[in-house]
Amino acid sequence: MYNFSISLPTMIHFGKGMISHLSELKASGDKVLMVYGGGSIKRNGIYDSAMKILKDAGLTVSELSGVEPNPKIETVRKGVEMCKSEGLDMVLAIGGGSTIDCAKVVAAGAKYDGDAWDLVIHPEKIKAALPIYSVLTLAATGSEMDEFAVISDMTKNEKWGTAAPCLKPTMSILDPTYTFSVSKKQTAAGTADMISHTFENYFSFEKDADVQKRFGEGLLKVMFKYGPIAYEHPDNYEARANLMWAASNAINGITRVGNAPAWCVHPMEHELSAFYDITHGQGLAILTPRWMEHILSDKTAPILAEYGRNVWDLKGDDDMAVAKEAIQKTADFLFKTMEIPSTLRAVGITDQTHFEKMAEKAAAGSVGCFVPLSKEDIIEIFKAAF
Ligand code: NZQ
Ligand code: ZN
Repeated sequence: MYNFSISLPTMIHFGKGMISHLSELKASGDKVLMVYGGGSIKRNGIYDSAMKILKDAGLTVSELSGVEPNPKIETVRKGVEMCKSEGLDMVLAIGGGSTIDCAKVVAAGAKYDGDAWDLVIHPEKIKAALPIYSVLTLAATGSEMDEFAVISDMTKNEKWGTAAPCLKPTMSILDPTYTFSVSKKQTAAGTADMISHTFENYFSFEKDADVQKRFGEGLLKVMFKYGPIAYEHPDNYEARANLMWAASNAINGITRVGNAPAWCVHPMEHELSAFYDITHGQGLAILTPRWMEHILSDKTAPILAEYGRNVWDLKGDDDMAVAKEAIQKTADFLFKTMEIPSTLRAVGITDQTHFEKMAEKAAAGSVGCFVPLSKEDIIEIFKAAF
């Protein structure tokens, strides 16, 4: 196990009715920027609940609405401007990963004397941020408990993740009932995203990180068990609760520290989103089995076989055969059980014009990953997924 330092400073309030803790925002000041997306929180009543608690606590609320899936830098800039001109004390994101990510960069931008895009492409410039709070409404990204934020500039076809310790939320409220209204499409995509986060941290040649590996396998079992239940029964509390907590733990650092190399599939997916604005979890699902097939070799087979045996209970001593079966199980889960479109064409990517450019950028982002990928490797994976 490699040396590591880890801090998990986010206060989590998990369960039904935990939104009452929003009154604690008062500790950070009087004026809050509430950040949300395209209106789901108004339809399912979370907006009204939150607003009442904030007002009762004596907070004044400014609103930044309309955060897009794959949040755009223009929306971030709008939020930064509001924080600066209105002298706001904190940001509160209510939504999925896109809303929370947007709120995070708004919070950092409010403390930065320059354009917020600098903070996306130069994470080291993030020195401080307003206190960040979140109410999670979609189990997927883990943004509610991590230091990452992913922002796009579609005018340049750029989508980049930034990170800083101060982007970890001060407090996040995880009420599984808030995810009952998530659509089948987003439930499946969210499950694929949390599975991918676990894979990115899990697949490595590090042999001694047993805590991280066994924890990762436990998370994967939970996701494979409860994803289909939530998909078929959106208001199953047990399924939504387990997915929600699994998603947070998949990316909060617990399974990454001391074990994982750089991520492999996310840099490729971020290029798909940057050029075609597709749903992140769908892109990951389409790429993952093709990536596994591409990197399968005598060297990686024992590791993929370990995944097959420990997560899917596969039997047999032949690592290569078990690894192939594990890849098939993964693909069947994503494309058959969760009914995620299985090709890039099926999510609207109908030409290969940008594959070269995308592969070049993704290759730069995957330096140091489990099996390093060249530009040519990535083009092959994109073509196999096409
Ligand atoms: O905008 P609203 O109206 O809220 O609707 C959203 C949106 O259309 C809807 N939704 C969310 N909660 C709902 C709901 N609909 C009904 N009921 C609810 N309770 O779902 C749609 C998708 O929301 P979004 O926030 O975009 O999804 P997700 O949480 O999957 O976030 C995706 C973004 O996060 C980034 C992705 O790249 C993408 O930009 N990521 C962030 C990471 C991080 N911060 O650590 C890591 C990830 O790997 C990922 O890259
Ligand atoms: Zn992801």
